[in-house]
Amino acid sequence: MSPTSDIYDVLVIGGGPGGYAAALYGASAGLSVAVVEKDKVGGTCLHRGCVPAKEFLETAAAFRAVGGASEFGISVSEPKIDFSISQARKQKVVDQLWKGLSGLMKGRKIETIEGVGRYLGSGRVEVSDGRIFEGQNVILASGSVPRSIPGFEVDGKIVMTSDEVLSLESLPASVAVIGGGAIGCEFASMMADLGSKVTVLEALPQILTGVDKDVADVVLKSFRRRGINVHAGVAVSGHTPNPDGTGTAVHFGEQQSVSVEAVIVSVGRRPNSEGLLGPDASVDIDQRGFVVVDQFMRTSEQGVYAIGDLVATAQLAHVGFAEAVVAIKHILGEPAVPVDYSKVPWCIYCHPEVAFAGMTEEAARAAGVDIIVKKDPFGGNSRARIVGETDGLVKVVAERMPDGSAGRILGVHMVGPWVTEQLGQGYLAVNWEATPEEVSQFIQPHPTLSEAFGETVMALTGRGLHVG
Ligand code: NAI
Repeated sequence: MSPTSDIYDVLVIGGGPGGYAAALYGASAGLSVAVVEKDKVGGTCLHRGCVPAKEFLETAAAFRAVGGASEFGISVSEPKIDFSISQARKQKVVDQLWKGLSGLMKGRKIETIEGVGRYLGSGRVEVSDGRIFEGQNVILASGSVPRSIPGFEVDGKIVMTSDEVLSLESLPASVAVIGGGAIGCEFASMMADLGSKVTVLEALPQILTGVDKDVADVVLKSFRRRGINVHAGVAVSGHTPNPDGTGTAVHFGEQQSVSVEAVIVSVGRRPNSEGLLGPDASVDIDQRGFVVVDQFMRTSEQGVYAIGDLVATAQLAHVGFAEAVVAIKHILGEPAVPVDYSKVPWCIYCHPEVAFAGMTEEAARAAGVDIIVKKDPFGGNSRARIVGETDGLVKVVAERMPDGSAGRILGVHMVGPWVTEQLGQGYLAVNWEATPEEVSQFIQPHPTLSEAFGETVMALTGRGLHVG
């Protein structure tokens, strides 16, 4: 189809990681593609999520490095932060990436249609200005928005979600973070490093639920050492704003409260499906608002797919990328390998960083899988000592064979310096269903942080070098 005829091979609603990946991948396969986007291509990830949050975490890392410079014999004065400069740098990074992405899309002749898209049914999409476009196939990728909780009306000043935090010009002196998941822990870590007094209030018994317990414990210890107050297993009942508008008291647990300048609500994200479908669309949505899809990302209406945070799978940009590829391959009539959600890579960029793929020890034991587990703390790793970041460990979970030896690697869990960049080989091992015997034949460069993975795997063969 010609892009000028208004009937595209693929018409995408939403230009976030799911939508733009579908557009880029589809266009590189020769399909004519248009993306309806109400704001800027790049979506939450680029403008209000992953990228700006990680940029601020890097600011926190620079602050820590300056603060610890004297240990290396370097004298510097006490670090101070002008957050407006950090904010400007973050924006520059985001804008550069946004320009790059826009140029890439233009270069592949992807048409970007400005406005809010609504799927009408039969391949037709209406844009908020009244124009109607048609696609042989439609991909719904309108993403998600932060969830809020009753009693915490978001005003952008005292009560914020990630949307508002990422545009702050100065940091609050004290903050309560409600929800100790990925977003909550990243913000808590960043703000505490930059000098805010942080309290985390988590409803479940531990922060970072779903993360291996040994890994979450390392994060918890580091948080506490850095002065972050973590209350897990507490219900938050409301807050009482100061009459002079300077802050609020957040009430939680058994009549406890904490006075803070600001509150960050990070209790999850909900699918952005409200108003997405017209009455004639026959796309099923579940009770929580997620669009229902099968393993090829097909919705209940033929020719209509849904991907990214709009569907009830892991809300990660790279999962959106993977789902986009599955949908486009299916549209092309090519064999598509469905995403194996039990083995996707997870990376949380708080300090210390967390990265993992596959089964946790607890999940394996709960499922009745006979396992062998080995751990290597970064304290014994040369590079970690050199860098001066020894908090953390690598943990590998493998199935136990009838003869007692280690079989397939089921899970790799890391916490510590730059583990988000180290997960690659662990991810491959889990997804390749490799055994420790196979993986340990490969050489790890020395001294590197990543040899901790090699050491742990070698220990699983029954003969470790440094790990017993
Ligand atoms: P989340 O689901 O990861 O964590 C929310 C936390 O809030 C949970 O621990 C939950 O128990 C807690 N909670 C819920 N209601 C509560 C209440 N009333 N009081 C206290 N605690 C409460 O959601 P989050 O952190 O908002 O992130 C949203 C999505 O974005 C997640 O799916 C997350 O995986 C993804 N994300 C991933 C990142 C990464 O991988 N680096 C970074 C940021 C987000």
